[in-house]
Amino acid sequence: MTSDKAAFLRCEYRENPIGIDAPSPCLSWQMESTRQGAMQSAYQIEVSTEETFGALCWDSGRVQSFETLGIPYGGAALSARTPYFWRVRLWNEENECSGWSQARFETGFLGSPWTSRWIGARDEEESCHYYRREFSVRGGLRAARLYITACGLYEAHINGRKVGRDHLTPGWTSYGDHLQYQSYDVTELLGEGENALGAILGDGWYKGPYTWDKKRELYGHKRALRCQVHLWYQDGREEIVSSDERWRYRRGPILSSQLYDGEIYDARLELPGWDKPGLSGAGWSPVRVLSPQVGELVSTLCAPVRAQRELRVQKILRTPNGDRVLDLGQNMVGWPRIRVQGRKGELVFLRLVETLGPDGNAYPYNLRSAKQELQYILKGEGVEIFEPHFTFSGFRYIQVVAWPGEPNEDSVLGVAAHSGMEQTIELRSGNPLIERLYKNILWGQRGNFIEVPLDCPQRDERFGWTGDAQIFARTASFNFDCFLFYEKWLRGVRADQFSNGAVPFVVPNILPRDWDLASAGPESTSAAWGDCVTICPWVLYTAYGDRRILEENYGAMKRYVGYMRAESPNGLWEGGSQLGDWVALDAKPGDYIGATDPLYTATAFYAVSTRIVAKVARLLGRQADAQEYEALYGAVRAAFRARFVRDGEVSEETQTAQVLALVFGLVEDSERPAAVRKLAELIERKGGHLDTGFVGAPYICFALSENGRADLAYELLFKEDFPSWLYQVRKGATTVWEHWDGIMEDGSFWSDEMNSFNHYSYGSIGEWIYRVAAGIDCDAEEAGGYRDIRLHPVPDRRLSELCCRYRTPRGTLESGWRMEGDKVEYQFTIPPNTTAILTLRAGEGARVSAPQNARALGSSGGEARYLLAPGCYRFTVK
Ligand code: BGC
Repeated sequence: MTSDKAAFLRCEYRENPIGIDAPSPCLSWQMESTRQGAMQSAYQIEVSTEETFGALCWDSGRVQSFETLGIPYGGAALSARTPYFWRVRLWNEENECSGWSQARFETGFLGSPWTSRWIGARDEEESCHYYRREFSVRGGLRAARLYITACGLYEAHINGRKVGRDHLTPGWTSYGDHLQYQSYDVTELLGEGENALGAILGDGWYKGPYTWDKKRELYGHKRALRCQVHLWYQDGREEIVSSDERWRYRRGPILSSQLYDGEIYDARLELPGWDKPGLSGAGWSPVRVLSPQVGELVSTLCAPVRAQRELRVQKILRTPNGDRVLDLGQNMVGWPRIRVQGRKGELVFLRLVETLGPDGNAYPYNLRSAKQELQYILKGEGVEIFEPHFTFSGFRYIQVVAWPGEPNEDSVLGVAAHSGMEQTIELRSGNPLIERLYKNILWGQRGNFIEVPLDCPQRDERFGWTGDAQIFARTASFNFDCFLFYEKWLRGVRADQFSNGAVPFVVPNILPRDWDLASAGPESTSAAWGDCVTICPWVLYTAYGDRRILEENYGAMKRYVGYMRAESPNGLWEGGSQLGDWVALDAKPGDYIGATDPLYTATAFYAVSTRIVAKVARLLGRQADAQEYEALYGAVRAAFRARFVRDGEVSEETQTAQVLALVFGLVEDSERPAAVRKLAELIERKGGHLDTGFVGAPYICFALSENGRADLAYELLFKEDFPSWLYQVRKGATTVWEHWDGIMEDGSFWSDEMNSFNHYSYGSIGEWIYRVAAGIDCDAEEAGGYRDIRLHPVPDRRLSELCCRYRTPRGTLESGWRMEGDKVEYQFTIPPNTTAILTLRAGEGARVSAPQNARALGSSGGEARYLLAPGCYRFTVK
């Protein structure tokens, strides 16, 4: 027996989850070993309903395979709401067997019907309703689960305590297609005898004001609750307590709670004991049974929003206009928790803003019509602690409009919340500005990954803009483990895809059906936005190595390419509602669309998406499709070249045009030098700056470093004056801005009509830092998920040192370098069960000293290549 073992056991990407609705849930693990060169040669999985693994539902037998990711359960059909135990052991490359590693999962409804009813209030109003019922537990409870969902948002309570730690549940999906439910283990919350179950309902995305028109009732007119508590007794009995006509409801202290506007809470109206047994029924009315039009009920597709960190007030300011403003020191997303003492009826009134304006006062204008306010009326009973229920805001500064007496540093905490995902990257560098940029990128993701990838978290928008989600996907996958987050969102993309194959601008698509950006007709889209349906699955496959994401989205990808094809009789995509190179700096004054011809960006992305479909078809073994899409790609590329490449040069004289041609392979290798020269010249013309927008910026550094100009890519990265990534950092940004010129050199602001200080798109530079500067990459053509690691770090003197630790799905990978004089020291850790090909830059006359355990693969063109087995390595190049 070996001490190698399977660790980090996950079912459907979660640790011991409950509420699994997949009929064949995917099981994964990581090989753990302290040995150099450790590889898995085989595995065995057993699944049982018994912790002792007496009777098995599945025994995979010994499977000769290195795979550790996404192994589908292959046993007898699973039963609904049942706990399963699973264990895995592996054989290493010496054919030594490990011990078993064990975990569990529990199924949800698995498509079986709910017995409960939808219930709601008889009268609907702004204030939130409280719902309750009592029930008894008699005779030895073994386990209990609460399954719950709502039209609107819910907060569940049992016997005086909130159930679970989730917020904004049941989350946001395309409700007409599917609505999530949550499963909670509530065994410990219940007791023998009388118990009380309660829920508060808020409007949320379902019916509260949303979109820039603050349109109400996007999905339906009435909030509704549906839940079941399943009680399992030691003697084998099962009882179900359901939402039904026996429930009662009434108004409470939450006078209003809306996603954009915040909450108004009157603590004098609290309902003591509302969620405990033994309450008198006075003031409570019988509910009505409802039948809302919602789609399939599905178990939570991704971990819900939770409070993830608490930020303390850093400074208390008195702004020039006399306002008291609390500074959390970080632009964050969530809500404040207040701690206050005062007389009954006194008011706390807080306004949450991202920034101070040019005049130094709190700046609410870029929120547009979103109010982001909190009003709390005290009950006057000692210290009162409060946080709002069904809202979130993007803010760093808290303007104190009213407070009993004076607030101090301990009066308010910033509660930062986001959808459940674990951070997977750690970056260290010798440059504080780069480290701050990296932190800003992480905060951008934290703040905007709230149920769906939002464009921004503050103004009256906060939509799942498809382009933004696509642009940032690879960076996102380095930063956090976000497979489920994107997989959930892509389900919405498929649900909302138009019948002609176009993908809406925002998903869930809440824009009016006739919303038409460029008079191209209602069911149209833009390049780089619609392409989320091809690019995101490919990125996820690359990062996480699970083919399922390709299978799930393959049909939608083909439909999308079919849509572009239908609009491109000559191979050029002349249709769509093109946003071009959105917010590029080469746009005409007052315009958002950059100077690059939208026909150019459209056709370039048409080519890219077609090529992805061809690649995916090959991977999924659909050879006929692969041939068809390869031929189509060839035709689109040829049409593009006929139109935009003249005498070996790209005719469009913009940075973004050169960038896309280089990165998307739309120029021949022989034409690359001319394109990169042109790009350098265009950068030079801007005083060494970029002027790219959403479409060009994510790729500009790649276009340079992949074509021999890493030096210039670094120069763009290190620029500190406008426009650049570090310009924002120097201006005090703690997140990533929507516009390069969100705040101008002279301190004035870009128009408040569209000026978010927390937009992650330009944070996509993270991908270049991780993949090129630190050199962490993977060859996904064969197998994604960093089985075939490619390391090709690019050191640069101006950074002096960089180290990234990245938790890949197969284990932690580390790549670091440090420059000292003419010496570069490298350090790598390769996780078990993977192999890496390392390419080191070693120019003329440089000597590489390599550790013995690295296998040299030869050197050419100033580069030395090595094959690295799992383990730790140090190299020096001098
Ligand atoms: C959003 C963007 C989005 C764009 C496209 C903006 O209002 O905030 O991030 O992609 O519109 O039109």
